[in-house]
Amino acid sequence: MSEPVQEYTGAIDRGLEGVVTCTTSISTIEGSTLLYRGYTIEDLAEHATFEEVIYLLWYGWLPTRRELDEFSTDLHHSMALPPESFGWFHGLPTRVHPMDFLHAVIAGLTLHDPDANLVNAAATLRKSTRLSARIGTIVAAYQRVRSGQWPLQPLAEKSIAWNFLYMLKGEEPDEKEVARFDTCLILHADHELNASAFSARVTSSTLSGTYSSIMAAIGTLKGPLHGGANEQVARMLLEIKSPDRLESWLEGALASGEKIMGFGHRVYKEGDPRAKILKAMSKEITRETGHPELYEMSARLEDLMSQRKALICNVDFYSASVYYSMGIPIDLYTPVFATSRVAGWCAHVLEQYQNNRIYRPRGKYVGPKGETYTPIDER
Ligand code: COA
Repeated sequence: MSEPVQEYTGAIDRGLEGVVTCTTSISTIEGSTLLYRGYTIEDLAEHATFEEVIYLLWYGWLPTRRELDEFSTDLHHSMALPPESFGWFHGLPTRVHPMDFLHAVIAGLTLHDPDANLVNAAATLRKSTRLSARIGTIVAAYQRVRSGQWPLQPLAEKSIAWNFLYMLKGEEPDEKEVARFDTCLILHADHELNASAFSARVTSSTLSGTYSSIMAAIGTLKGPLHGGANEQVARMLLEIKSPDRLESWLEGALASGEKIMGFGHRVYKEGDPRAKILKAMSKEITRETGHPELYEMSARLEDLMSQRKALICNVDFYSASVYYSMGIPIDLYTPVFATSRVAGWCAHVLEQYQNNRIYRPRGKYVGPKGETYTPIDER
């Protein structure tokens, strides 16, 4: 006979809220301030490029002109996928979630990377460079292949932002669009111990290597409570359709206990600084591209959620209307997030290896004890 199951009184670090699992010098959140290596996100979004930010996250300082040139050359020459991978593209199903496709292609890249299972710093940096350069290439190639087109090769003299838009749409992007997209990449590049960075750290703590860590992170980012929220926000705005339907839609959604995507945050309570920057961008770009109602609905929803639920909007909220206005297919929003966040994941893997100890927490056991085996015919 089993002992009665003890009632779990719960909430012991449920969701690891407030638990500090490691020291980190990569990024931090203080109130509504987000710092990458000590620099505010506003400062970096206004002045830096995504390539500079990747360097900053990995090395800890802003590169000199020479350091940036060398780093960017290496990164940009790594954007092209190995030729054998084009065969996989045409063999893999494309009516799948693009995050699953990304997973599959990265698993394939692992098999062709001679550094795959090395965990020393030099090999980890080489793999970080390849992965950070290539995720955007894979996402754009996926879009081309599923539209019946051959993937485009990146141009090594151009940036990651430029190339992503070029390879996705098949035409050279204008500089304003590139600058905006580059800012989006900067805003999403890292965010302290978010769920996917934590996943990457847990996996790397077993000395499993960069590819496994990044694949774990991709799987974690995919969920709608994390990076998958941006896609859901766009679907929600399209479902609401017009600003005059907003209030009744929201009442219905809240009454049925739904979570409104793009709202709430575990750490930010007063406001997400990334959302503020994206809000301004959304206001401009939705007007310029003929979708002003998307911004109007978003801004109104932000006010209503603040009044009704005292919840702030997070990075995924205004990024949805921005990406929509850029003509990025909705199911690629989370892969676009990965195109940026891979830089942060790699920074966390590099940092984890500098002072590694395997992550191994405990679970509070609430199951039965003292059971004895009953032969199958007597059960
Ligand atoms: N819509 C409606 N209610 C929400 C909400 C949302 N987006 N986010 C949180 N809440 C409510 C919860 O239902 C809960 O209410 P309760 O105490 O009455 O049960 C309360 O606010 C606390 O939320 P909780 O889910 O416990 O917070 P968390 O810290 O565990 O989760 C998020 C944080 C971000 C996962 C959560 O806010 C969420 O699911 N948001 C929507 C998805 C999203 O935008 N994710 C992107 C994150 S960057």
